[in-house]
Amino acid sequence: MERKALYAGSFDPLTNGHLNIIERAAKMYDSLTVAIAINPHKTGFFTVEERVQIAKEVTKHIPNVKVDTFEGLLADYVNENGFIAYVRGLRATTDFENELQMAQMNARLFTGETETIFLMTDPQYSFISSSLIKEVASLGGSVEGLIAPYTSERIKEKLSK
Ligand code: COA
Repeated sequence: MERKALYAGSFDPLTNGHLNIIERAAKMYDSLTVAIAINPHKTGFFTVEERVQIAKEVTKHIPNVKVDTFEGLLADYVNENGFIAYVRGLRATTDFENELQMAQMNARLFTGETETIFLMTDPQYSFISSSLIKEVASLGGSVEGLIAPYTSERIKEKLSK
């Protein structure tokens, strides 16, 4: 049986911190689905289609990574797709309480034996978030090394419009 894992988030956009979690998690499972959450009440910087395109481009070197989207309850998506693991990255202790809450709620909602698995974010990315990247980039600061060059180009393109 294929051991499928899930890594979900807004990924607006996907950063090198996310990519580090993806590369490590992909080695642990037969396949890893990177799923972009569609939130109809929130307008992102990038559209969902653009986020998918970026995620596909920056993960194209990892053969067992798939990119998908989902809307609604994460647990429904997990239950429908038979993931054995839901991977989360922990950046700092400040992430812990929220992650604990979500993991415990999801554990009630998962109908199978899916486990939430935590990977510690590589220290060089522990301070970044997608919002911080967008803020610094939009004000002309350097985000080199924190996002893929492709993503950087897409941000510049978007800001110039
Ligand atoms: N490296 C760099 N940045 C990281 C990171 C890492 N390893 N891990 C997280 N981040 C950043 C993200 O970019 C994000 O930044 P932003 O807030 O500036 O956009 C921030 O940390 C929070 O990330 P995360 O906790 O993954 O939130 P998210 O909004 O990306 O995704 C969902 C959260 C979509 C997975 C969650 O809200 C969900 O499950 N939604 C579906 C509805 C549902 O089922 N709700 C009940 C859950 S119990």
